[in-house]
Amino acid sequence: MAIQKVGVVGCGLMGSGIAQTCAAAGFTTVVREVSPAIVEKGIAGIEKNLARLVEKGTITSAVQSEIRGRLHGTTVLEDLKDCDLIVEAIIEQLPAKRELFSELDRLCPASTIFASNTSSLTITEIATSTKRPQRFVGLHFFNPVPVMKLVEVVRTIATDTDVYEEMVAFGAKLGKTAVRAHDSTGFIVNRLLVPYLLDAIRALEEGVGSIEDIDNSMKLGCGHPMGPLTLLDFVGLDTTYYISQIMFEEFHERRFASPPLLKRMVLAGWNGRKSGRGFYDYSDPKNPKANQL
Ligand SMILES: NC(=O)c1ccc[n+]([C@@H]2O[C@H](COP(=O)([O-])OP(=O)(O)OC[C@H]3O[C@@H](n4cnc5c(N)ncnc54)[C@H](O)[C@@H]3O)[C@@H](O)[C@H]2O)c1
Repeated sequence: MAIQKVGVVGCGLMGSGIAQTCAAAGFTTVVREVSPAIVEKGIAGIEKNLARLVEKGTITSAVQSEIRGRLHGTTVLEDLKDCDLIVEAIIEQLPAKRELFSELDRLCPASTIFASNTSSLTITEIATSTKRPQRFVGLHFFNPVPVMKLVEVVRTIATDTDVYEEMVAFGAKLGKTAVRAHDSTGFIVNRLLVPYLLDAIRALEEGVGSIEDIDNSMKLGCGHPMGPLTLLDFVGLDTTYYISQIMFEEFHERRFASPPLLKRMVLAGWNGRKSGRGFYDYSDPKNPKANQL
């Protein structure tokens, strides 16, 4: 079955990027959010990205309007029921994802493929909220989705090989390099990345260096495009906090445990770039200033 219409649930940081990427690759795309204001905000962000691509000469304005024409926002879950594939990108909490997929399972025909963009939850545990675990995969994209070239395609012990291969091919159609991963918490990238990011917070807590010095060390000393604390602000501190809790629960190793500072920043609503404040203050987004912590 060829995928023609894609549903995306969640139009936050990741959902908006996934929706933009699917529409740009030629798929009719319907993206669902919980309120009209959030749908509008997400679609406005996509429109801004497309306008920037026209300004840079990456796409023509004709292509821009074609992509925009393939993209539809909604708050009604039923509007996704005739999609061939639904990609979920909502909050990183198991009960919310299971509730959403059991509802989608009731609405969609048996042929629809379901995918979760979860960073750290077990795909098997999300898939068992449906009657179609054989048509369920992980499609783990990276932020910003239109720019980052990787997608981890995750199979569980229940995933049909045909469905899995179709999803690997779908990743390639989006212009991504699809890597194959098994349903092990954190898959490949977060298994390696999360302990590094959490260690950067621990280094800050222990006074090893300042925010700028920790970031500059990894940028200039290791050639990383951005330092770990800047990257944490991009990923979202709330999302990182949920991920570390889930990974700690799975492995019971200190390297996956949330440092107290991360928890306190999340409690204070300092969730990084998306909330205007994290390790840096984004009042002037082009010139972030390190916070005093
Ligand atoms: N942030 C990253 O770098 C990153 C990278 C890869 C994967 N992920 C994963 O992607 C998912 C989303 O993360 P994010 O960073 O986009 O979070 P986000 O907070 O930016 O967006 C989540 C969105 O989901 C919406 N939402 C919640 N429940 C919903 C529902 N039932 N229906 C529709 N929308 C709903 C919220 O209103 C919010 O806008 C998480 O599972 C996360 O682990 C995040």
